[in-house]
Amino acid sequence: MSHKVRVWDLPTRCFHWVLVLCLIGLLATSQIGGDAMAWHFRFGYAVLSLLLFRLIWGIVGGKWSRFSSFLYAPATILAYIQGRSRPEHSIGHNPLGAGSVFAMLVFLLLQVASGLVSDDEIATAGPLSRLVSSAVTSTATTYHTTAGKLMVIALVLLHIGAIVFYYLKKRENLVRPMLVGDKDTDNAVASSRDDVGSRALALLIFLGCAALVAAMVRLAG
Ligand code: HEM
Ligand code: HEM
Repeated sequence: MSHKVRVWDLPTRCFHWVLVLCLIGLLATSQIGGDAMAWHFRFGYAVLSLLLFRLIWGIVGGKWSRFSSFLYAPATILAYIQGRSRPEHSIGHNPLGAGSVFAMLVFLLLQVASGLVSDDEIATAGPLSRLVSSAVTSTATTYHTTAGKLMVIALVLLHIGAIVFYYLKKRENLVRPMLVGDKDTDNAVASSRDDVGSRALALLIFLGCAALVAAMVRLAG
């Protein structure tokens, strides 16, 4: 019998698609430069708020959004690659996808952190650049505009490539659940909590994270 499982709660879906929009905004504004850099910063603050939210949601969020549900041992990852997967691997992030999710979160955090202390030495300086030494600013700027930028772009391309691969080769549409939340499965597995209470909690957490970021920017300014 087929069961419907809520795999991505609404807060996780909102996190994902707003993050995508912000990344597009960040890449576009960084190419336009000039006055558009004010928006580069705003999108950057939004990404930082989203990432802080996701770190907390990874602990208190819906079952399948919790880090504990997709923190796999190396042996499990190896077994998955060799084709020995367990049924629950097809519900949340599978052992390989989990690696790319963690990598994206880490490199996005590094990108934001380096951006905060970057300075192009012409017109655009991150809000925390005055608080660190010029050596730190210079290293951070180089990282932000070279290795960091390339890493983020490479991870996103790999991510989209993997989704296309699952669709074409494995006949698995991963995008639909990230849009509507549910997956159909033959296994009776628990759903992620996704009710008014959990959504309100997510909103409160996100607003707290955004307020923290706003306070940081204001204090530094
Ligand atoms: C800037 C571009 C993107 C970034 C930074 C990004 C980032 C992420 C992250 C961090 C997750 C983990 C979600 C979580 O557990 O919180 C994720 C999952 C996912 N993303 Fe993206 N994403 C991007 C673009 C896209 C696009 C364009 C698509 C669809 C065409 C997409 C489809 C998905 C799907 C289906 C999942 C769930 C994968 C699974 O079932 O394990 N993403 N993405
Ligand atoms: C995930 C978030 C971010 C991404 C993907 C991103 C991406 C980029 C890219 C692609 C560039 C242009 C690099 C080049 O010249 O080729 C850039 C430049 C820059 N970004 Fe970001 N950025 C992010 C967050 C931030 C944040 C939060 C800040 C500061 C609040 C920031 C400040 C800057 C500055 C000051 C530059 C100009 C550096 C220079 O041209 O020397 N960025 N960013």
